[in-house]
Amino acid sequence: MNNAKEILNRLRGGGYVSGQEISEGLGMSRSGVSKHIKALRERGYEIDSVTNRGYKLISEPDIISVEKIESMLHSLYIGRPTVLLNEIDSTNEEVKRRARAGAQQGLVIIAEAQSAGKGRLGRGWSSPMGKSIYESVLLRPELPPAQAPCITLAAGLAVCRALNELYSCGAKIKWPNDIIIGRKKLCGILTEMSVEDNSLSYAVLGIGINVNNREFPPEVSGKATSLLIETGRQLERNLIIARVADVLEKVYDDFIMCGFDSIKDEYISLCATIGREVSANLGGQAVSGLAADILSDGALLVLTKEGEKVRVSTGEVTAQGIY
Ligand code: BTN
Repeated sequence: MNNAKEILNRLRGGGYVSGQEISEGLGMSRSGVSKHIKALRERGYEIDSVTNRGYKLISEPDIISVEKIESMLHSLYIGRPTVLLNEIDSTNEEVKRRARAGAQQGLVIIAEAQSAGKGRLGRGWSSPMGKSIYESVLLRPELPPAQAPCITLAAGLAVCRALNELYSCGAKIKWPNDIIIGRKKLCGILTEMSVEDNSLSYAVLGIGINVNNREFPPEVSGKATSLLIETGRQLERNLIIARVADVLEKVYDDFIMCGFDSIKDEYISLCATIGREVSANLGGQAVSGLAADILSDGALLVLTKEGEKVRVSTGEVTAQGIY
């Protein structure tokens, strides 16, 4: 074990540990100890130091670790393997590259930062280092392409259920798959599909969850929130990643084996869009009305004032009362 790890292990015992005790225990000089303490602080460890008492570990940085994720994972194939990258253009792009090279269903790519994070509808996804989760999951569903949009809804349901189970945070879904708390966005999901010969060859679920963020870029501040803001607690991303993988596998298996109807009731119970006045743009034509139901292919059913039933299957829907 290296010296920094040894020092950390001593500090993890709790309370103050004197510099003298550490230097004698590890056979290193006092100045060596303080150099390691300084380096640990630079890596995000909060360490208090008090004259005549020594050092005390206050908090550890939230570092994503595949080892920790795997120790909490119960899934059979989602997250097997889980690959962690420090920085990549976009985890969706990386999964697509690996899918084309033959990677198996269940592969999860996580990055600490993305240099070209992608959002829905051609937007970007701001992806600074270290506070959020940026991950993409490779699926190889045997489904007619018409059923493919339901994968997006299943993913939204899984993330929403996982976060509520972990933190009782009142997360809801804004159709089709934004996760919100109150009026603000907590998580976005970008699903990308590859279709060959009229059948789905693979789908990539790209999930971005705001976890320990306190601030957001100006274009989304006021519309975005994080788990830290909502729960008041600094949370462990490894646990969230593992739980999302477990729940995603359950929800996705139910959907593949029993169809969208088997998860539709839970989806509707969590969907904040249903029952609200919404407006959408359908091929250049504005539609507005009451969001009344989700159809078996994942489309939103909107009842207009004129009593017309309109199916909305893609694009941007604005729901009154939500960002
Ligand atoms: C949205 O616009 O709401 C979707 C945002 C999806 C962001 C995630 S972060 C991980 C994955 N990689 C990307 O480039 N985008 C998705």
